[in-house]
Amino acid sequence: MPAKAPKATPILLVAEEAWKALASGLSAPARRFAEVHGFEGKSGKVLPVPDGEGRIEAVLFGTGKDAGLAENPFLAGKLPAELPAGRYRIEGTPARPDLVALAFRLGSYRFDRFKEMERPAATLDLPKGVDAAALDALSEAVTLGRDLINRPANDLGTEELAEAARAVAARHGAKVKETAGDALLKKGFPLIHAVGRAAANPPRLIDFSWGDPADPKVTLVGKGVIFDTGGLNLKPDNSMLLMKKDMGGAATALAAASILMALKAKIRLRVLLPMVENAVAGNAFRPGDILKSRKGLTVEIGNTDAEGRLILADALALADEEKPDLLIDYATLTGAARVALGPDLPPFYTDDEVLAEAIANAGTRTSDPVWRMPLWKPYGAMIDSKSADINNAGAGGFAGSVTAALFLKRFVTETKSYAHFDIYGWVPSAKPGRPEGGEPQAARLTAEMVLSRYGHR
Ligand code: BES
Ligand code: MN
Ligand code: ZN
Repeated sequence: MPAKAPKATPILLVAEEAWKALASGLSAPARRFAEVHGFEGKSGKVLPVPDGEGRIEAVLFGTGKDAGLAENPFLAGKLPAELPAGRYRIEGTPARPDLVALAFRLGSYRFDRFKEMERPAATLDLPKGVDAAALDALSEAVTLGRDLINRPANDLGTEELAEAARAVAARHGAKVKETAGDALLKKGFPLIHAVGRAAANPPRLIDFSWGDPADPKVTLVGKGVIFDTGGLNLKPDNSMLLMKKDMGGAATALAAASILMALKAKIRLRVLLPMVENAVAGNAFRPGDILKSRKGLTVEIGNTDAEGRLILADALALADEEKPDLLIDYATLTGAARVALGPDLPPFYTDDEVLAEAIANAGTRTSDPVWRMPLWKPYGAMIDSKSADINNAGAGGFAGSVTAALFLKRFVTETKSYAHFDIYGWVPSAKPGRPEGGEPQAARLTAEMVLSRYGHR
């Protein structure tokens, strides 16, 4: 170790098996300090160690059996909150310096719009080989997604969500179309209107496009339910508590879009965000109502709490009309998805085998994990209706995430490559780099997948 401390304090990634060898490279005071504290490289252990003058010589960061954080680069998200203010740098080369740097930034996130909070004041120097622009684009997009999901519905109504979308669009010179209130009926979005009409927050549809119309067309659709009471099929108290996050799909689509535009993907990007509040009032849509969708399919309302698939149906139908090369939607669509896979592993659905593999691979590469579930055709019978073309709620309550995905698919008939993500949109208890609260799951993997498929401009 040099006598004079360098500007940025080194962080040493210490795997258990490498600890002994590493310890010998530390100064005697630092080594003794580590020994006294029982440091052995245990996973997630953070220990700043002093030199002879009591200055921090280095930070030891235990990685357990995961040398170089190859398995879980996001563990680095633990660091900022546990370090004194100052500049740090990663010593040596982690397997994925880009994800280590990203996790470090994302671990500093706090939702402090309504309360003053201490923000971690440790910063990480850009590791070698990490693209600063990409890192900024990713961390800004995730921060935006988290902020939008975390904002309660009294602060983020349909107008404010639309404003956030317009701001992202404006920043990248995208062209925005907006349809709100009764104009939705005139323009042919009866399901978006029906779900949103009972709320003081008028329903709306944001539609923005960016890029060269000659490039491959990629369309992202996101469920923007700013609050889901369940409607007349009112949710019980506990189930309603978190429903400010029901616009998590829109937040995710917006986050993915902002990465793709910032990094200049060689695509024509289109983003469709149907926004509603699923509220209760005298003019609310009812169980048993039969509505005619944009696509022409009639939908019987089995449950007003299955509102997300209704607003997505009209938005997907619109997307499908221009036959994009790739169509993806994101939605906090079912409680059943969480029952099946838990909060951290959103299921996705697609009939396109090549796309499925690309999504799974991108998820692994970006530490944005997802798991494929089947569009199991025979379960389509569960959403049959006696008096309409389809019912919005599955009978029997089996395979709720699958039947929701099958419902959506009925509205996508022209587009060859279509995927649906049933995200949770929320981290229920903090994990490294993932503070408790909103999380735009699958946004980063989408950007990775689309960029590797279509490239940069
Ligand atoms: N927004 C909910 C789904 C949800 C609930 C996501 C809890 C994450 C956590 C959605 O609108 C909904 O209420 N879905 C119903 C559908 C059912 C009525 C067919 C559900 O999953 O119970
Ligand atoms: Mn609902
Ligand atoms: Zn919902």
